[in-house]
Amino acid sequence: MAKQKTIFVCQSCGYKAPKWLGRCPDCSVWNSFVEELTEIGHHQDRERRQDLLGRPQRIDTVNIDKEARHKTGLNEFDRTLGGGVVPGSIVLIGGDPGIGKSTLILQVVQRLAQQGLKTLYISSEESVQQIKMRAQRISTDSSDDSSELYLLSGTCLEDVIDRLDELAPQIIVIDSIQTIFTESLSSAPGSIGQVREVTTKLMNLAKTSGRAIFLIGHVTKDGAIAGPKVLEHLVDTVLYFEGDGSHIYRILRSVKNRYGPTNEIGVFEMMDNGLEEVRNPSEIFLEERSKDVSGSVVISCMEGSRPLLIEMQALVCSSSLAIPRRTTIGVDPNRVSLLVAVLSKRGGVNLSNKDIFINVARGIKVEEPAIDLGIISTTASSFLNKPIPRNTVTFGEVGLSGEVRGVSQTELRLKEAVKLGFSRCLVSKKSVKTLKGKIDIELIGVSSVIELLEALF
Ligand code: TYD
Ligand code: MG
Repeated sequence: MAKQKTIFVCQSCGYKAPKWLGRCPDCSVWNSFVEELTEIGHHQDRERRQDLLGRPQRIDTVNIDKEARHKTGLNEFDRTLGGGVVPGSIVLIGGDPGIGKSTLILQVVQRLAQQGLKTLYISSEESVQQIKMRAQRISTDSSDDSSELYLLSGTCLEDVIDRLDELAPQIIVIDSIQTIFTESLSSAPGSIGQVREVTTKLMNLAKTSGRAIFLIGHVTKDGAIAGPKVLEHLVDTVLYFEGDGSHIYRILRSVKNRYGPTNEIGVFEMMDNGLEEVRNPSEIFLEERSKDVSGSVVISCMEGSRPLLIEMQALVCSSSLAIPRRTTIGVDPNRVSLLVAVLSKRGGVNLSNKDIFINVARGIKVEEPAIDLGIISTTASSFLNKPIPRNTVTFGEVGLSGEVRGVSQTELRLKEAVKLGFSRCLVSKKSVKTLKGKIDIELIGVSSVIELLEALF
């Protein structure tokens, strides 16, 4: 028997201490330590582990199944995962409560089950009747009899694992990781210890049995799954389902993926009968653009392998504050401060006594440096009160000396712009040289902020 011992674990970041502490030395949160049981010494498992370990293999003798992924048929979901569900992988889907995680995953498993994959949906939040009701609501056809979808309502991991042997499902869903508990720990479900322990057990299950497991995790108030990001390093893939409740659009974003690219996004629309894929998100993000007002420009940013066209807005107005406001939604405020400084110093636009608000329409978050030109253009446009023509799109990175640099994937971005009817694009001079004649769009090369302002106004 392993020796039982208790330790104190910070519920916010997972820091462990032998004694109770008032304040976590790691994340500085007060009163976050909870006593948890821990087992010390793992040698009792040695034999079992030896069985699992196998022998070292030469790399050329390792076989991989190329077509091993299960496609769900929901293209946006498959692409975000990197091409489908990998057997033996464990995928965490995080998001705010009520955003539609259960709905999304139910739609996914319905499709997998229809292909004949045995699927078990374990809910520790809802009864099987509730799940069935939702399934009927989102189901596309009513003849679901052939479906291999099984439902189970339970909260104890060990009980659930017992059931797995008789059913032998290939796909397992746990909804949610915060409400399921393992008997080996006495702490409450949802505590760091529980969440980590349950995930570790499921991880072993996935790796040894080749079953794919989806975990649903609620993002807590401070914006991380299960308090901290304790799960992200354990699982293979982390997807976040985002969007604000007032908009019907939802974005599924991959932030970690051992089997595909990260930063890939899938866009969905929440309808009365479940989530629907949005095939051309740029069109939606540009809908309802106001006509010929200052402080609005369309930028192109890459989300994974896909270019998105997004409207970026700015409002510059006189400030009555000693330190003028720089408020941003959807972009990094530090980046905006930097670019505003560049615009003042290199572009000769005096913004020192102005409040500046930057907003990315439709609740999208963008991070790429390629948005720099957009931020500068829209700020200048609002300051000068001169609109930027509606057919114009811009992207490029801006340096501290006001120079404009090219960005990656220029061709892809331009193609998307042409597809949506844009006819004029402001990019770096270098990008123009490499792309001249390749794409049917008027390319205007700018090498500095001054040139940008001249080209625009
Ligand atoms: P849900 O999947 O339960 O969210 P989560 O599991 O992330 O907590 O989704 C809940 C919301 O979605 C709820 O507010 C109702 C809405 N919804 C629809 O608009 N249409 C639908 O078809 C379904 C099933 C839910
Ligand atoms: Mg749910």
